[in-house]
Amino acid sequence: MQNLFAVVLAAGKGTRMRSKKHKVLHEICGKPMIDHILTSITALSPTETILVVGHQGETVRQYMGDRVQIVEQHEQLGTAHAVQQTRPLLENQAGITLVLNGDHPLFTAETFQKLIEHHQSTHASATVLTATVEDSTGYGRIVRGESGSVARIVEHKDATEEERQIQEINTGTFCFDNEKLFAALRKVDNDNAQGEYYLPDVLSILQEENQVISAYEMEDVVEAMGVNDRIQLAEAAKCMRKRIIQQHMQNGVTIVDPEATYIDIEVVIGEDTVIEPGTFLRGKTVIGADCHIGPQADLTNVTVLDSTKVQYTVAQDSHLGQQSTVGPYAYLRPGTELGQEVKIGCFVDLKKAKLAKGAKVSHLAYVGDAEVGENVNVGCGVVTVNYDGFRKHKTIIEDGAFIGCNTNLVAPVTVAEGAYVAAGSTITKDVPADALAVARERQVNKEGYVTKLKARLKK
Ligand code: UD1
Ligand code: CA
Repeated sequence: MQNLFAVVLAAGKGTRMRSKKHKVLHEICGKPMIDHILTSITALSPTETILVVGHQGETVRQYMGDRVQIVEQHEQLGTAHAVQQTRPLLENQAGITLVLNGDHPLFTAETFQKLIEHHQSTHASATVLTATVEDSTGYGRIVRGESGSVARIVEHKDATEEERQIQEINTGTFCFDNEKLFAALRKVDNDNAQGEYYLPDVLSILQEENQVISAYEMEDVVEAMGVNDRIQLAEAAKCMRKRIIQQHMQNGVTIVDPEATYIDIEVVIGEDTVIEPGTFLRGKTVIGADCHIGPQADLTNVTVLDSTKVQYTVAQDSHLGQQSTVGPYAYLRPGTELGQEVKIGCFVDLKKAKLAKGAKVSHLAYVGDAEVGENVNVGCGVVTVNYDGFRKHKTIIEDGAFIGCNTNLVAPVTVAEGAYVAAGSTITKDVPADALAVARERQVNKEGYVTKLKARLKK
């Protein structure tokens, strides 16, 4: 196979984002834009991938680690100048160079593949990926000659009124014969409205040298979308969301209202699961089959096994076993691990809590830093008192124990297997197996007290 070099341009200032953060690090469906681009590139198994950075380059470099080669463009003198910076790495190597912009997050690997195939089959020295859009404002326009082949690309700012009517745009994505690219780059000048070295000018230069230049017009124009400001960022996210959701529906997931459902790119969902509106599935969340999620579940890095139901719940970094039910109105904080057939009810707050099969915390409780055994029942209003103002301590409730309502379990403390704790207790000492712990005042009934009180007050 031929060498394939991928060059991603991301040195620009991204001024229109008005952000402290580099443009390509802005997220779309749970991942920075640059990651979406790299996912599509990686699918092509390139020989080398090079990212050109400049403005805020250090933060991009840090984020990328050693996933790609990074080249610095110290001064942003234009897209041709940006590609020039890769000369030490690429010049004189035979192969195809795919150049693309870091601010076009929606391109798929299939589109790149088709572009490369078109480039090869037309024996071109350069091929531009084009799209015909409703509003071509701001983009470079594709000027085609009489034969219909590409004559040149004219930037919006350099275009005549007539050229501005052209709706076919340069998506910023090109394929080049690598050696011819670097030869032509030497000839690019900056004699234009922006005083920049334009990469599209490479096409006219090659054209003049009677090289074949070619254009591949993509079908799905949505993919061609560039992100220059936050309005376009939101639009791109919407398109990506739609794409993700359609994929899940094709895989057999029911999504009741696709427009009111937010699923990050890496989320996995099993067949016959129903996702109700107002649901956010984020990060590396994995949902099993036959689950019912939502309405209004906000899950980040949560694993949910088959046939579990979660509604009106916020959960993070948690694991939910199968056939369990969570919510409405539960908050599962990091480190929550539910076994199978667990029930977590209304206004329950869990943190670093491990609940075994069949455990129930049905109402108004806080269980944190705890291990809860099989079939334990945690009554309404129970609190694990895990914090002494300095450190967190652990509560252990063994299998089959029953914790009465409004109990405080002052950790560190263990309620052993099968034990009962009377409602309203404040437990500060371990409870032995099968014992009943009562840790509250005994009740005293003062007969006739109220009658006497009322008689006295009337006088
Ligand atoms: C560019 C194209 C235009 C195309 C459009 C598609 C040029 C001259 N124009 O315009 O034909 O329709 O993309 O979105 O190529 N960059 C650098 N170094 C620089 C300048 C830019 O790395 O010196 C990077 C930017 O970070 C960005 C990309 O190149 O990722 C495109 O630059 P941008 O300034 O956004 O170009 P456009 O005006 O959008
Ligand atoms: Ca741009």
